[in-house]
Amino acid sequence: MTEKKDLVNITDLSRKEIYAIFEKAKFYKFQRKKGILVDDVLRGHSIGLLFRKPSSRTRISFEVAIIELGGSPIFLETSQLQISRGETIEDTARVLNLYLKGLVIRTYQQSEVESFARIVDFPVINGLTDSFHPCQILADFFTIWEHKKNLEEVVVTYIGDPNNVCNTLILAADILGVRINVSCPSEYSVSKQIVNIMENPHLLKVSDDPYSFVPESDVIYTDTWVSMGDETEKEKRLEVFKKFQVNEKLVKNAPANFLFMHCLPAHRGQEVTDAVIDGNNSVVWQQAENRLHVQKSILHFLYSEAEDEL
Ligand code: CP
Repeated sequence: MTEKKDLVNITDLSRKEIYAIFEKAKFYKFQRKKGILVDDVLRGHSIGLLFRKPSSRTRISFEVAIIELGGSPIFLETSQLQISRGETIEDTARVLNLYLKGLVIRTYQQSEVESFARIVDFPVINGLTDSFHPCQILADFFTIWEHKKNLEEVVVTYIGDPNNVCNTLILAADILGVRINVSCPSEYSVSKQIVNIMENPHLLKVSDDPYSFVPESDVIYTDTWVSMGDETEKEKRLEVFKKFQVNEKLVKNAPANFLFMHCLPAHRGQEVTDAVIDGNNSVVWQQAENRLHVQKSILHFLYSEAEDEL
């Protein structure tokens, strides 16, 4: 019997598996542009989406991906579940295990996703936690791969808050052999825990100067300064991160063909200006589109071998 697979963190995947996901996503994207849906790996499967935080891209791209793979998405509004009245994660997981064949979870604590994954017999996918955002980062590196081909020659610079997206970007870069820079204020620096997980820490450079890595950057990536859950520090954060805004002055010395990336939603006028996000180097809409193709490929990866047992 094949062991079930989860995507709880990006470190669940090897470099070979990530490239297999990219190749399949490329195929799904190509076929979908011709109006062809090629796969029904989720036929007869109901997949739950348990979201404790808002979402546009992750929710909708997963719902469409599940439908296009022959399955049925069921959005689980947490305020309407007994979990909101104190039913434990463990008991909820045991019950969902009786009905569903998969679960995408967006929540606060990484440990909650891990608890579900331990209890249920089907694949569990991390749709974002306070610590990690693996599906986003797979779509991001897929987008970079489409543009730059050889990822081992690419330098990615993340400018701003070293949040869940940045954590996952660092760990994915580590797996893929990509050089990764982070420019951030010293009081909100990269988590030591993340650096300790890295197998190739020499790939990571950190600076509190937002300009220092720009000339060597093939990719400049930013994200919100106030993540979901950080709202209590909002005013302080908006002040501390001001000099890390990605604007025309900042990117002036970047290579002509650099890619500007943002996982969205963007806070225009805060972490990025209109001129940059709407400029010729921006690939943010491709990133968003690729969420769909990559979600399908993630689902294919998790279900293709295990489908007989499910
Ligand atoms: N990037 C991202 O996860 O978008 P949503 O919050 O809209 O899902």
